Amino acid sequence: MKEFNAVKLTDRVYWVGAIDWSIREFHGYATQRGSSYNAYLILAEKATLIDTVKAPFKSELMARIASVINPSRIKYIVSNHSEMDHSGCLPALIREIKPDKVFASAMGAKALADHFRLEGVESVLDGETLSLGNMNLTFMETRMLHWPDSMVSYLNEEEILFSQDGFGMHLASGERFDDEVPEWIWEYEAAKYYANILLPYSNLIIALLEKLNKIGLKIKMMAPDHGPVWRAHIGRILGLYNLWAKQQPSKKAVIAYDTMWQSTALMARAICEGLIEAGITVRLMPMAGSHRSDVVTELLDAGALLVGSPTLNNNIFPTMADLLTYIKGLRPKNLLGAAFGSYGWSGEAVKLLSQMLRDMKVNIVHDGIEAKYVPTPEVLSKCRELGLLVAKKIGEVCCND
Ligand code: FEO
Repeated sequence: MKEFNAVKLTDRVYWVGAIDWSIREFHGYATQRGSSYNAYLILAEKATLIDTVKAPFKSELMARIASVINPSRIKYIVSNHSEMDHSGCLPALIREIKPDKVFASAMGAKALADHFRLEGVESVLDGETLSLGNMNLTFMETRMLHWPDSMVSYLNEEEILFSQDGFGMHLASGERFDDEVPEWIWEYEAAKYYANILLPYSNLIIALLEKLNKIGLKIKMMAPDHGPVWRAHIGRILGLYNLWAKQQPSKKAVIAYDTMWQSTALMARAICEGLIEAGITVRLMPMAGSHRSDVVTELLDAGALLVGSPTLNNNIFPTMADLLTYIKGLRPKNLLGAAFGSYGWSGEAVKLLSQMLRDMKVNIVHDGIEAKYVPTPEVLSKCRELGLLVAKKIGEVCCND
């Protein structure tokens, strides 16, 4: 037994990626469960490697390949996506194993040249099939899912879809298959990945799912570039993607706030009580202890976003500016919202928050509630009523009971 071993998907396909147990931050996304960078080895006549791994993990990739074949036997490398978590060690790998050819989409070939000054990458077309000798790999461009160069590859003889970032999740684990990971973990991590990476491209996801359905592609396994390989729950994850892409609101509200002397926190609690009283599921998220990427995950199926901040130096709290900037970039849809917060003398925060919600195309249902220094019982009563109002408005637009 070697230090690193490949994991068999089928007699002719192996997982040869790397597990990043310690990563906790992925360009703004909290990866509390680490991640994996998946690469796959196809033992065709022309042995083919699908994607590589982040640069520091090259030796792990090489060791896993070497547990199956001599790496110098690899003739083709396919780069489905040029982001550096999958291409970082590609230049070194090319120097070391000297494959006959490297393939990518046209945009991918250009992106690899731009990143690494890599010349000679052959571009493949959408729908093109590459012969690996005794097996065939068909490519499908998935532009902007989630980079312009993105594509997926389908191994016809094994009915495996190498889906790149799509259907992936940041999860470090010794388990390589979906049915080996507890469902509550994979469902949360897949949703988190969707919310934080794919959400802005939801219309393209819907189009891709329709295309897969139309062509009736038989998929025995879906092998993404992060997290477990799908073999038991393919229908379920496709269904969840369809649901998430439509961003249908449910009877759920997210209240995200920060507080200075607990006044805005008291207001948040009062709004929360109104929502609960009206039967809404609430996620109350103090930004002093919540990560922006977890807030976005909770928003994926929410019907409302309520945001609170005290006024600080004529502005909003930095944690709230961080959160709202992040959410805006992810372009969530179908949200109702309102703002609240305390102030001492100038009191700009609620107006600024409301404007930021409007800029995010959130449907504002209330002008916002302010409390001077400390909320009075009357202000807290208004906050509770705001919770009831938001619940009523959610009920008007959402249908899941
Ligand atoms: Fe996992 Fe977009 O790279």
